[in-house]
Amino acid sequence: MASYDELAGRVVLITGGANGIGQAMVEAFHAQGAVVCFCDVDEKAGSRLAKRLGERAEFAKVNLCREVDIKRWVACLAKRHGAIHALINNAARDPRIALEDVTAKAWDDLFAANIRAQFLACREASPHLAKGASIINFSSITIHTAPVQMSSYVATKGASIGLTRSLARELGPRRIRVNCIAPGWIMTERQLKEYVTPAVKRQIRAAQCIPDLIQPEEVAGVALFLASDASRAVTGQHFVVDRGWVHE
Ligand SMILES: NC(=O)c1ccc[n+]([C@@H]2O[C@H](COP(=O)([O-])OP(=O)(O)OC[C@H]3O[C@@H](n4cnc5c(N)ncnc54)[C@H](O)[C@@H]3O)[C@@H](O)[C@H]2O)c1
Repeated sequence: MASYDELAGRVVLITGGANGIGQAMVEAFHAQGAVVCFCDVDEKAGSRLAKRLGERAEFAKVNLCREVDIKRWVACLAKRHGAIHALINNAARDPRIALEDVTAKAWDDLFAANIRAQFLACREASPHLAKGASIINFSSITIHTAPVQMSSYVATKGASIGLTRSLARELGPRRIRVNCIAPGWIMTERQLKEYVTPAVKRQIRAAQCIPDLIQPEEVAGVALFLASDASRAVTGQHFVVDRGWVHE
């Protein structure tokens, strides 16, 4: 993994950091010497990770569907640490639901978790963001591959790119950057458990230009770059991390 000296001591907020890509990012930023503040609804996994990493890893139980939880989390961290250097809006759910079964409530709940939470975290963190700070929102390759039974999820992930570009304009004069990562199919524990059968692995290898399956740490490597000063000329962009997905 690349090393970015400037990340040492920086305060990095990561949502959904208890599992999957979020966990890999918590570990990667922690290894750079950053102060990593992460939240999740999964209290057990979050506390276990914070305990394992020790100093500079701070976990809080937060339900990102609740505005009050986000407000409290960010305010508490700003009070404790002062300036925030990076905010990574990673948490999301990706249910498979056929169009006719998506109720208005299910749609609203998913939008609250996947995109309203990104917006609220940006809004709450904004007054505390340092000059040169970096916001990274998570979209998904599905906005390009358009899988079935994921219309509400894909809609939230398309929205994330709009949010990113608009906030990049609004926060740019303050020298704050906003970018987006759109992961391909990443071999997280949950994906492997729920969806990635041997047949799906073959399908992924055939679809990617480079057939190797993508590990969460590889997405974390892109997040490190986007939070580092090496990417200081980059804002308003989305980065597809998919080893070149070319067909279904
Ligand atoms: N894994 C993939 O293949 C893949 C592909 C494309 C995009 N993504 C995106 O990458 C990001 C991370 O995905 P992942 O695969 O690591 O997911 P994951 O399910 O492994 O982890 C997501 C974490 O977010 C937490 N979370 C969910 N809702 C929450 C809420 N309301 N409040 C607080 N925490 C909440 C979960 O508890 C979990 O720990 C997501 O934005 C996802 O859409 C992932």
